[in-house]
Amino acid sequence: MTTNSLADLSDGHLIASVAVKTRRAVELLREIARDFSPAAFANSLGAEDMVLTDLIVRKKLDIEIFSLDTGRLPLETYDLMAQTERHYGIHLNVYYPRHDLVQAYVRDQGINGFYDSVEKRKSCCQVRKIEPLQRALAGRKAWITGLRAEQSVTRTGLPEREFDAANGLEKFNPLAAWSEREIWSYIRTHDVPYNRLHDKHTPSIGCAPCTRPIATGEDVRAGRWWWESPDTKECGLHVAKRA
Ligand code: ADX
Ligand code: SF4
Repeated sequence: MTTNSLADLSDGHLIASVAVKTRRAVELLREIARDFSPAAFANSLGAEDMVLTDLIVRKKLDIEIFSLDTGRLPLETYDLMAQTERHYGIHLNVYYPRHDLVQAYVRDQGINGFYDSVEKRKSCCQVRKIEPLQRALAGRKAWITGLRAEQSVTRTGLPEREFDAANGLEKFNPLAAWSEREIWSYIRTHDVPYNRLHDKHTPSIGCAPCTRPIATGEDVRAGRWWWESPDTKECGLHVAKRA
């Protein structure tokens, strides 16, 4: 499914379910701001994260918004970062990889070494995403993501709240139970800015060399690390053991 094929977003049941889920998400975000300060929201600029950005900013919640710039993001994502800052009058706190680690990775594994094996791909994600994430989460009581249970086999059973043992803090997924249509209904209704790649059959967007458009009927994350099998397709930002 892509934005182009999400035809009837004016369906009455859809609008009603989005209203209910929006109220629940706002309630949860308020609880996080109140009980888990300082809390931070990890914003990849994907469609789900634009919904959360809109809620956090419009409800004036005391939650920091940060993004991880891996240095390999698509141009459209950088454009959306700038557009988001203008649209909402906010500053995104952007975290970068350590230059010494990037330099060592490129020297030892090659500039595009991540295509060679799952191990090399994971070590690129470690340098460009996970180490910066650990810095972004330091001193926080909780973090918030735009993960949804429906997104892939690795996310089935995703709860709204879980303890992130790898990073040692609470993790909240306020959109865990949302469908893709509900996300797009919210975006259309509230005129939320979104990544133009979503209009080009790319529902899930990460780094440019590791993201491609999907074909009709393919899983929403089929265009991420498409050369790997579905059960390895996590970068390590989200590690959880679920039944
Ligand atoms: S990933 O682990 O495969 O890259 P995905 O792109 O589905 O994750 O995004 C899931 C959630 O992880 C996002 O909603 C966001 O909270 C967080 N996330 C992923 N990439 C980034 C990023 N570059 N910056 C900030 N948060 C991110
Ligand atoms: Fe590296 Fe690709 Fe992971 Fe980005 S998604 S950090 S380019 S392996």
